[in-house]
Amino acid sequence: MGLLSAIVNPLVHISSDISTPALIGASFAIFLTLSIVLNVLRQLLFKNPNEPPVVFHWVPFFGSTIVYGIDPYKFFFSCREKYGDVFTFILLGRKTTVCLGTTGNNFILNGKIQNLNAEEIYSPLTTPVFGSDVVYDCPNSKLMEQKKFVKFGLTSDALKSYVRTITDETRDFIKKNAAFKGKKGTVNLSSAMAELTIYTASASLQGKEVRAKFDSTFADLYHYLDMGFSPINFMLPWFPFPHNRKRDYAQKTMTDLYCEIIERRRAAGGKREGDEDMIWNLMSCQYKEGRAPTDKEIAHMMIALLMAGQHSSSSTIAWILLRLASQPEIIEELLQEQKDVLGADLPDLTYDDLARLSLHSQVVKETLRIHTPIHSIMRKVKTPMPVDGTKYTVPTSHVLLASPGVTARSAENFPNPLHWDPHRWDAHKEVEEDDSEKIDYGWGLVSKGTASPYLPFGAGRHRCIGEQFAYVQLQTILVEFVRAFKLRNPDGSREVLVETDYSSLFSRPLNPATIEWVRRDA
Ligand code: HEM
Repeated sequence: MGLLSAIVNPLVHISSDISTPALIGASFAIFLTLSIVLNVLRQLLFKNPNEPPVVFHWVPFFGSTIVYGIDPYKFFFSCREKYGDVFTFILLGRKTTVCLGTTGNNFILNGKIQNLNAEEIYSPLTTPVFGSDVVYDCPNSKLMEQKKFVKFGLTSDALKSYVRTITDETRDFIKKNAAFKGKKGTVNLSSAMAELTIYTASASLQGKEVRAKFDSTFADLYHYLDMGFSPINFMLPWFPFPHNRKRDYAQKTMTDLYCEIIERRRAAGGKREGDEDMIWNLMSCQYKEGRAPTDKEIAHMMIALLMAGQHSSSSTIAWILLRLASQPEIIEELLQEQKDVLGADLPDLTYDDLARLSLHSQVVKETLRIHTPIHSIMRKVKTPMPVDGTKYTVPTSHVLLASPGVTARSAENFPNPLHWDPHRWDAHKEVEEDDSEKIDYGWGLVSKGTASPYLPFGAGRHRCIGEQFAYVQLQTILVEFVRAFKLRNPDGSREVLVETDYSSLFSRPLNPATIEWVRRDA
């Protein structure tokens, strides 16, 4: 008793001297130290030989989140050296198993529907932005039908008409935008290309009423919706942060605006000759069960297309121009290609010309190789998945992550992989990635891409639906910029001076991404 009070009394005395915040701080420090120690011991002592190795990390829950978030490729390549192509890391408390290489891409992207699920991962983030009953807020079979509708709308007639519209929008932008006033100047591509691609995509795919609204209401609404993709929403998409309240307001208002457009079109007597856009197309589609999509579903699909296409396209065209500014001789080669193929007087571009401008498409292709906008593709594991050629089985508590960008940046597939060289594709001029095996998931034949190290548009049932449109949009904008400007880095260097911003779902050039332009007609 005497010994116990000799120990406890001074402690009680000390604790009564310490303020409450200090006590809380001390308890937290003890808790943190203990959990770090236990976490390290668990990793060292309890390795499961039948599961992929876990990337060593000090702090539980956060695990490797920060290193991964700063530069996913650096993280993946360094883990590959230590652990091989298959390893697990902790991403905000989730055990995330990465499978690299073409085998890893195939394992995840072409996984069976009963084994892997995309909607459980993406829906919390995307459904509040896109709206209900579309894409990841519906059974996969319904998504496959919705993709079929969109594919049906991207006919060559539609794409042909888009080349004219996109050309006009780009010329108008170059003429009127403040960043291009005068004979020479600088432009921040991050903001300028985001604005231009939203005009070109809305004027073509979305239709003229939506384009007109981007001069007024839609620009703010789009921005509010976009904030729904903030990184914090990976964890708290439902939390009433101000940005989430704005997202919800924008989602409802935008849905109502699309529904009004649809009603007005119906009231005016329906589609006429020459009317080409995705809203018209969706208004004429029918699910297998015999009903047409509701107006709300059409509105939500249109929002999904707007959001899915915008970031990837604006970041890709920004990277293209950044690359051309650091290798200005390529932009001169592009101009020469246009003169050789189309004629020295540079007539207006047509859809059929795009396929003939092979260096232009190689510039897009090479840029997507190094700067693919989607660095991580994730799926929830639904049944334990044995990994071929290893002793590992990935359990259902894990999320699987594929990164086709790693195969596209690997020296074994592309010599000197980080060197941007559109001519590396000279030997394979076509933009097809892998013709070996094709499969139909309900929205047309797509290449499985099983053996291809180049999959910027993904593979399998969730493969991108917007590839053709993206190429039309990017190449058409490129053609106009090549005709209008000479480009260079502000300091004249031959390096890309801008780092990549990996902080959101889509990687993009870090803002500001500034280059210098000089008008050719100056
Ligand atoms: C899916 C890339 C442009 C609509 C995807 C995926 C990738 C991708 C990698 C697969 C995601 C996954 O498997 O989880 C790109 C790139 C683009 C681009 C690199 C441009 C350079 C577009 C455009 C549209 C679009 C312009 C719309 C017109 C979609 C949709 C999906 C998708 C709706 C979801 C498909 C599904 O989950 O089944 N995209 N995309 N994309 N993309 Fe694109």
